Amino acid sequence: MKTDTLAIHGGFAGDRETGATAVPICQSVSYAYRSAQELADVFDGKVPGYIYTRIANPTTAALEARLTQLEDGIGCIATSSGMAAIASVVMGLVKAGDQIIAAAGIFGGTVSLFENTLRRFGVETVLVDVADTQNFAKAISDKTKLIFVETIGNPRMDVPDIQAIAEIAHKANIPFVVDNTLTTPALFQPGKFGADIVIHSTSKFINGHGTAIGGAIIDTGNYDWRKGIFEDIKKLTEKAGQLAFLSHLRNLIYRDLGGCPAPMNSFLMLQGLETLPSRMVRHCENAHKLAQYLQNQPKITWVNYPGLIGRRFYNRVQELFNSKGGGLLTFGLGTKERAFKFIDSLKLAKNLANLGDAKTLVIHPASTIFHEFSATEKEKMGVPADMIRVSVGIEDFEDIKADFEQAFEKIS
Ligand SMILES: Cc1ncc(COP(=O)(O)O)c(C=O)c1O
Repeated sequence: MKTDTLAIHGGFAGDRETGATAVPICQSVSYAYRSAQELADVFDGKVPGYIYTRIANPTTAALEARLTQLEDGIGCIATSSGMAAIASVVMGLVKAGDQIIAAAGIFGGTVSLFENTLRRFGVETVLVDVADTQNFAKAISDKTKLIFVETIGNPRMDVPDIQAIAEIAHKANIPFVVDNTLTTPALFQPGKFGADIVIHSTSKFINGHGTAIGGAIIDTGNYDWRKGIFEDIKKLTEKAGQLAFLSHLRNLIYRDLGGCPAPMNSFLMLQGLETLPSRMVRHCENAHKLAQYLQNQPKITWVNYPGLIGRRFYNRVQELFNSKGGGLLTFGLGTKERAFKFIDSLKLAKNLANLGDAKTLVIHPASTIFHEFSATEKEKMGVPADMIRVSVGIEDFEDIKADFEQAFEKIS
């Protein structure tokens, strides 16, 4: 089935007992068995069954099945947030003394996890500019345990050459982890271009309505864990085959970290997925129109949208994302004060720390999401003081434009 159909039907064929067409919300912590032996067998993995919702849950399993199909992967683990997904994957791969190579200009929370939290556990991160793919090859050492990029960097809007980086990673036998939050499987399937593990913050476009935080990890099946560089996971392949990495997470890392989603939130993600492909088309159309409008607006100093003709990553957007530049853009107004004044003047767009909502959202990243970083670090991460980030919603474009126009009138 095609993406539009899988988004609606994938992973759930209706409830046999009741005929319900929506996935039932299984709001239960645990699952009772008739005999002690039966539960012991489930724990031992001799018979399939649910044990405890921190490890697996039927509603969440339906979401995992749908995301597996949408990413054309071999399996998925849904998590309580995008950060829980990233933390689980990374902690499942690295040990003290290891190194991560990550794209510069990615989400501030991910950089903080790598640079602050993981550094406390002896893990180093090298941030590289994705404009030159060879930067990844140059940064690889015998300590490197994973390469991490976002399909479109949030907020620098850099688009890495996924296929070329995958080749570099595989030559060194290192897993390539791709955060597909900004493009979603509606625009792009990283696994088709060589990614080994796909990450999502489902809180964004997948949920689509700003109603639940969530994340997901999908193993695309590209990395051969039997021949991999991780001895513990390699050992697991004897039992779990290619599902060894997900089994390593489910039965150890993810289980121990406790980042499971609430069943209700899994339901909200399933509901969001149904309209994801149609919403993404509209997000991209509106963002493209807004970027074009801003390009001709004399009061701004710059605009960054990778879908604009002639931009640095325009060709990659054409090749990878079926000519769609995503729903996010940034622009500058010269100073922080002008940026604040503009945000304060908007009436329709909401000033908040999220993206991918049906509603148009704006934020001043330098004083919010990136507030903990120094001015020099912010510049390096692509977050200048005058930057406004817009997550362009699916309202009528004329209303979005009118809101921006009246806000521009308020600034000199
Ligand atoms: C690209 C990207 N990845 C991951 C995350 C983290 O996701 P969550 O907020 O669901 O933990 C975010 C959050 O903004 C993001 O933008």
